Amino acid sequence: MRSTSRRPKRGPEILLRRSPAEKEESMPNHVESTTEEPSQTLTEIAQPASLPRLGMAAPAFEAVTTHGKIRLEDYKGGWVVLFSHPADFTPVCTSEFLAFAAIAPELRERGVELLGLSIDSPSSHIAWVRNIKEKFGIDIPFPIIADSNKEVASRYGMVMPGESKTETSRCVFVIDPAGIVRAMIYYPLTTGRNTDEIIRLIDALQTTDKHGVATPANWKPGDKVIVPPPGTMEEVEARLKAGFECTDWYFCKKSV
Ligand code: BEZ
Repeated sequence: MRSTSRRPKRGPEILLRRSPAEKEESMPNHVESTTEEPSQTLTEIAQPASLPRLGMAAPAFEAVTTHGKIRLEDYKGGWVVLFSHPADFTPVCTSEFLAFAAIAPELRERGVELLGLSIDSPSSHIAWVRNIKEKFGIDIPFPIIADSNKEVASRYGMVMPGESKTETSRCVFVIDPAGIVRAMIYYPLTTGRNTDEIIRLIDALQTTDKHGVATPANWKPGDKVIVPPPGTMEEVEARLKAGFECTDWYFCKKSV
């Protein structure tokens, strides 16, 4: 059950007049404008003004990385998988970095660049990458953002205060060539991500874009795709005559 001991007693004005300790806990750019009695603690509701949203422009940033300074804008025209991990020199994160390094060539074939991030310093990232090379014999081929001041992390809502106030959770943002957020995945600190799923997700998004279709549960390349459901009676008739593989008027598949 959620604790109510720190729940504010009044409406939104109290959220704008917080104690220094509460300000310290919260992330920048947060303004809550609800007129209802808050049902969460201040820490829980503290969020940047605009978190990433599917179908909206990915929040812009400039950052220091293991490959030098980058701007998200530099990646326009290609796909980006921006992912956060809790901390350098931790075992689950290390297993994930080995897995991300393994899929980097497959992603690059699909026009996708990886971009890692944690709230660690450039020196920590460099030392960890060197350690991974020394202990596992694997090069980490993609840049890792050193987000020591949490600037990118707070813009993307990567810190989940209920899990940790000092580490980013395991977030994945798929950003398309136009800079639009197309998918988001959030995993907890304790669960390493499935990189096959990330490739499957990219394949599904690129298939959707290329053919104007949707993809069913557990779809993988080569499987039939879903023809988006018709919106009018006329479209239903056209659909049924089109030669798709229809189980019913709303459930049609085809090969691409
Ligand atoms: C890890 O990467 O091993 C890890 C990081 C934070 C919490 C739990 C595990």
